[in-house]
Amino acid sequence: MEPAYETLDQRTITEADARRIATLLLTIWPKPGRTVEGRAQTILQQWKDYRGPEVQHPRSFLVREGDRIIAHAQADPRTIRTTAGDLTVLALCRVCTLPEIRGLKLGRALAEAAFALVDQGVYPFSLFQTTEQVRPFYEKLGGTVVLNRCVNSLGENPEANPFWDPILMRYPATANWPTGTIDILGPGW
Ligand SMILES: CC(C)(COP(=O)(O)OP(=O)(O)OC[C@H]1O[C@@H](n2cnc3c(N)ncnc32)[C@H](O)[C@@H]1OP(=O)(O)O)[C@@H](O)C(=O)NCCC(=O)NCCS
Repeated sequence: MEPAYETLDQRTITEADARRIATLLLTIWPKPGRTVEGRAQTILQQWKDYRGPEVQHPRSFLVREGDRIIAHAQADPRTIRTTAGDLTVLALCRVCTLPEIRGLKLGRALAEAAFALVDQGVYPFSLFQTTEQVRPFYEKLGGTVVLNRCVNSLGENPEANPFWDPILMRYPATANWPTGTIDILGPGW
């Protein structure tokens, strides 16, 4: 049976849900000095003024248990500059399941929900960073490693790689992907 998940519109997220997501993200990726309150405020502010196409509106897929959010994936629109022109890709990030409930296919259900937006033609690709450990999880879902050099021409260091994880991947593996440098025109995700 497919796990039950819900879709949450990032533009109209409630304070309570922003806090629930912030709590989950800080459990998985603890950062010194970061508070749930601060993280929740960022989530609340980040997309409230989104003015892009309705079909590409930023959203999260998530699983709840009682008053907690226990698994999560964020699917945002990001326009990147490639040698083949500008593309608005699905920027997948913050894919996580609480450690005590891993292996129950929740992560897969949420990543698949995000990739369905690509399958439906809403985006031409999903682009996301990951680690060597998690790479097989995405390969099973149809992702493949991207070897292009990446920069952010709008950043303080326009030549530096704006991603921090060692591996960059795209979905699907099958379609044509541009060669050459990719300018992600903003910070990594
Ligand atoms: C990666 C993560 C989200 C997977 O969540 P999950 O709910 O345990 O995953 P699922 O149960 O849906 O697994 C789906 C499939 O991927 C496999 N898989 C999951 N994590 C894997 C890993 N690290 N390496 C290899 N395979 C993995 C599962 O075995 C399963 O395979 P199957 O369908 O053949 O049985 C979870 O391990 C996590 O939160 N990790 C820490 C945060 C993180 O690194 N997120 C990724 C950031 S890009």
